[in-house]
Amino acid sequence: METLTIERFDIPVPGVAKKTICHFSDIHLTAYDELSTPEEKEKALQDTQGWIDTRRYFAEAHGAPTGAAQMADSRLQYARLVALANTADAAVLTGDIMNHITPADIRATEKGLTDLQVPYTIVCGNHEPKDKLPDGMGLSMMKQPVSVVDLGDLQIVGIDNQERRITPEQLDTLRGLLATGKKTVVAMHVPLVNAENYKAVYGCGEYFRMNDYEGCPPENDEFIALLTAPDSPVVAVLTGHLHFQNVSHLSDRLCQYGVSQGITGNVHLYTIGE
Ligand SMILES: [Fe+2]
Ligand SMILES: [Fe+2]
Repeated sequence: METLTIERFDIPVPGVAKKTICHFSDIHLTAYDELSTPEEKEKALQDTQGWIDTRRYFAEAHGAPTGAAQMADSRLQYARLVALANTADAAVLTGDIMNHITPADIRATEKGLTDLQVPYTIVCGNHEPKDKLPDGMGLSMMKQPVSVVDLGDLQIVGIDNQERRITPEQLDTLRGLLATGKKTVVAMHVPLVNAENYKAVYGCGEYFRMNDYEGCPPENDEFIALLTAPDSPVVAVLTGHLHFQNVSHLSDRLCQYGVSQGITGNVHLYTIGE
């Protein structure tokens, strides 16, 4: 596990039995295998090379290391992250696990989910358009506008926000889930910009945020109000997409935990409960 960059957070929540959640994102798998056509393999090799440069760009821009461990193959990073997740009580994957949803990417992603021996939530990223995702597999959870994993005294709610918008239907579903009062972890790909992370995130461009942009639908702001209401049971918001770590307050009692890129082995472990 020494090859991973693990950040640990404690989230005390009265009434919830202590549990650990492993969170990673943005592996951008560019896989090929024995079933790939020569053209698919060639494209995967090109994309793999591209992500050597892209991951290094993000890491260097944020002072993160770029040694052999961080530059290892994306499939190896995924296997390392799944192995760590198997030491936790649940796993949360916040999107861009695949780079282009090739047949081999689907097989590689599904293999990791099959290897996971703990409950998991997986939401889609902007690299994972839902119309290219198959049905009937573990990763098909990514197609759900809102997904729910029940851990007893805690639920993990996955929100598809890959298009940087929340629909009225998603809002209704979330409202119903939160009305139960069950403590809730929200997982989604694109982060929210807020007063605390404004400098770090806003300047990255509107591609990197799901609020505070021209044409942002009112449902997005209603979504934020729902998360941050004083009586909201939401205890954490987990996000990806940025390719650098960003942890910030959405309200005085609620934090958004943005994990850095999984393709260089970044991962968060949360101890939630009491
Ligand atoms: Fe990404
Ligand atoms: Fe993304």
